[in-house]
Amino acid sequence: MKASSGRAIAVIGGTGPAGTGLALRWARAGETIIIGSRDAARAQQTAEAIHKRAGADAQVSGMENPAACAAGDLLVLTVPFEGQAALLRQLKPAIRAGSVVIDATVPLAASVGGRASRTIGVWQGSAAQQTAELVPKGVSVAAAFQNVSAEQLNGDEDIDCDVIVCSDDPDATQVAMELAARIAGVRAIDGGKLENARIVEQITALLVGLNIRHKGHGGIRITGLPDGAYKTGLVKP
Ligand SMILES: NC(=O)c1ccc[n+]([C@@H]2O[C@H](COP(=O)([O-])OP(=O)(O)OC[C@H]3O[C@@H](n4cnc5c(N)ncnc54)[C@H](OP(=O)(O)O)[C@@H]3O)[C@@H](O)[C@H]2O)c1
Repeated sequence: MKASSGRAIAVIGGTGPAGTGLALRWARAGETIIIGSRDAARAQQTAEAIHKRAGADAQVSGMENPAACAAGDLLVLTVPFEGQAALLRQLKPAIRAGSVVIDATVPLAASVGGRASRTIGVWQGSAAQQTAELVPKGVSVAAAFQNVSAEQLNGDEDIDCDVIVCSDDPDATQVAMELAARIAGVRAIDGGKLENARIVEQITALLVGLNIRHKGHGGIRITGLPDGAYKTGLVKP
């Protein structure tokens, strides 16, 4: 269950339910996690809470977002859409060339006072494409995890959801798929170009509506692809 590399995953906005849930799952899988926050104390509190749940061997620390970015080998962005662009502009000098940013942001209309079951239009096409426009040159962006319920991630059961990864960089796709597959129950699927993130982000708004209507925490499963299209990793002992 240990991570194969000594890399550190910085979860930017990791104090919220989505980032905390992902961090918990990866910490349990043996990954080294840095929780990023606008507030160092809040980051450390969240890191301690994750450490308690993930076990004594878990490697989890907390830092302000810029320090987390600088220390992370891999960045995962889990902030609300309304804060995404300003935060990325602030973090730009701290994001190292050659790194990969995995973006889980969904441009829900709730960001502008609307419904969480609708998305808002993004000039670049999607929240992930906006991120790609704002990161330094030489940094790759992959969109992933938008459809996974934070409620499920913060629980103890296997996750009943596929993760569609979209990126224009095949290496970034591989990194994100491998990371997704480290979450028990998740199957990672290569979803093609980053522009397809627009469609994946829209699915989240549908899921929010379904979850309200049916009082659940639904995810997605893509059926009928050849076995090789699904990347899975952890198998529950
Ligand atoms: N919740 C889900 O089930 C789920 C599932 C998949 C994807 N997502 C997406 O993942 C992202 C995070 O979701 P979430 O529910 O965890 O969101 P959240 O709780 O609203 O925000 C996550 C963290 O982002 C930071 N933040 C909030 N406003 C910010 C701003 N204006 N600028 C910079 N940082 C800010 C906060 O951390 P600090 O105050 O500590 O800095 C907060 O704890 C969203 O884009 C969401 O659409 C969510």
